[in-house]
Amino acid sequence: MLFKKDLNRKMPISSIGIVGAGIVGLSTAMHIQRELPRVPVTIYADKFDRATTSFGAGGLFRPNVDYCKGVDPETVTRWSKDAFEFFSSLATSPKASDTGHMITPGYVFSNTPIENPLYKGLVFSFRDLTSAELQKLGVDYKYGYQVTTVVTYVPKYLPWLMAKFQEQGGLVVNRTVNSLEEFVGVHSVVVNCSGFRSRDLVGDKTVYPVRGHLVRVKAPWIKYWVYTEDSAYFIPGFDEVSLGGIRQKDNYSLDINPKDSEGIKERCYKLWPSLKNAPVIGEWVDLRPHRDPVRIEYETMKFDKGPLKVVHNYGHGANGITLSWGTSRDAATLVSKAIMEPQARL
Ligand SMILES: Cc1cc2nc3c(=O)[nH]c(=O)nc-3n(C[C@H](O)[C@H](O)[C@H](O)COP(=O)(O)OP(=O)(O)OC[C@H]3O[C@@H](n4cnc5c(N)ncnc54)[C@H](O)[C@@H]3O)c2cc1C
Ligand SMILES: *[C@@H]1O[C@H](CO)[C@@H](O)[C@H](O)[C@H]1NC(C)=O
Ligand SMILES: *[C@@H]1O[C@H](CO)[C@@H](O)[C@H](O)[C@H]1NC(C)=O
Ligand SMILES: *[C@@H]1O[C@H](CO)[C@@H](O)[C@H](O)[C@H]1NC(C)=O
Repeated sequence: MLFKKDLNRKMPISSIGIVGAGIVGLSTAMHIQRELPRVPVTIYADKFDRATTSFGAGGLFRPNVDYCKGVDPETVTRWSKDAFEFFSSLATSPKASDTGHMITPGYVFSNTPIENPLYKGLVFSFRDLTSAELQKLGVDYKYGYQVTTVVTYVPKYLPWLMAKFQEQGGLVVNRTVNSLEEFVGVHSVVVNCSGFRSRDLVGDKTVYPVRGHLVRVKAPWIKYWVYTEDSAYFIPGFDEVSLGGIRQKDNYSLDINPKDSEGIKERCYKLWPSLKNAPVIGEWVDLRPHRDPVRIEYETMKFDKGPLKVVHNYGHGANGITLSWGTSRDAATLVSKAIMEPQARL
């Protein structure tokens, strides 16, 4: 990836800054370049590619209203529809091997009845399983469905987004932003896509971590994903299968806990015995950046140096890959609105 020197002082005033080079920052950048093709866009971040939370996610497209507290279901459906249309168009195109979008069938199992999941009408196909079918699969669950959706293999998708952003004239600066005040008089609008660290950057203490852990195994015979509500699931990527998982609220530790690894393996082996012979090739712990609701808002922030138009786009929690494309379109629409408005006097 190409870095520009920090051009801050020389930026034309009608320009846009984005904090964050995770999936949310890069998707927002793409939408802004589409909506405002003549306005220069600069991304500021101190973590790129494999250093981001986005990089290691399972990437399964499975929107879940429960993970979007405080957002009305119509909005979640609209974001999901937007994302599925985009991801599926990539998955069915010759670009799929570069963007990392895979049409992937999967099963969801449960002991409580599953009522109309949000993506039922969006995905490629969806069908409830009969008890005879559940028996054949050898699982100890009363209910289940079979669904064909998209897995975004983020290690491919992030570099693809980054390359496209730069091809279209986007600039990238590698640095830590200590305060959005640094952009007063530098950019006309700044978008805050700082994920979990919005907690410090905009002082938003309503962002909280939900710690996750994935065990990567080599299992080329697994060509589908399986999800349960009992902290056992697995999702195939290009060269590995990710086994999960845990959801630990308010735990900031990025250390790998061997007890968590053992628990994940034990639950997954019980669910799907064929995984037992899959060699472990890696492990990954990161924090899902939760906020109820995800914040997509425009405000003028007041600093000592002056006012600054800020659009927030953070707090995507467990759904960040799934919702990145749809929420980022809304953020870009707010940026268009903000750039047209005269600067408020504060
Ligand atoms: C174990 C696990 C499994 C997951 N599985 C899935 C899944 O299957 N499907 C799904 O949809 N989602 C999943 N997620 C959720 C998803 O990973 C996140 O919601 C998503 O990655 C958030 O993206 P982001 O761009 O907001 O944040 P990040 O990827 O964390 O990017 C933040 C960016 O902001 C930059 N930044 C922040 N603060 C500053 C600062 N002060 N100065 C400079 N730069 C700054 C960082 O450098 C980085 O570039 C999973 C998460 C975990 C932990
Ligand atoms: C960004 O800068 C930091 C600190 O100078 C450096 O350690 C890191 O490797 C850089 N990242 C990239 C992707 O070049
Ligand atoms: C981004 O927003 C969050 C939440 O408001 C805030 O804590 C963080 O400081 C902001 N980022 C920057 C660079 O100001
Ligand atoms: C957070 O997780 C770490 C690693 O698993 C563990 O050692 C620690 O006890 C946990 N802390 C809390 C407060 O649960």
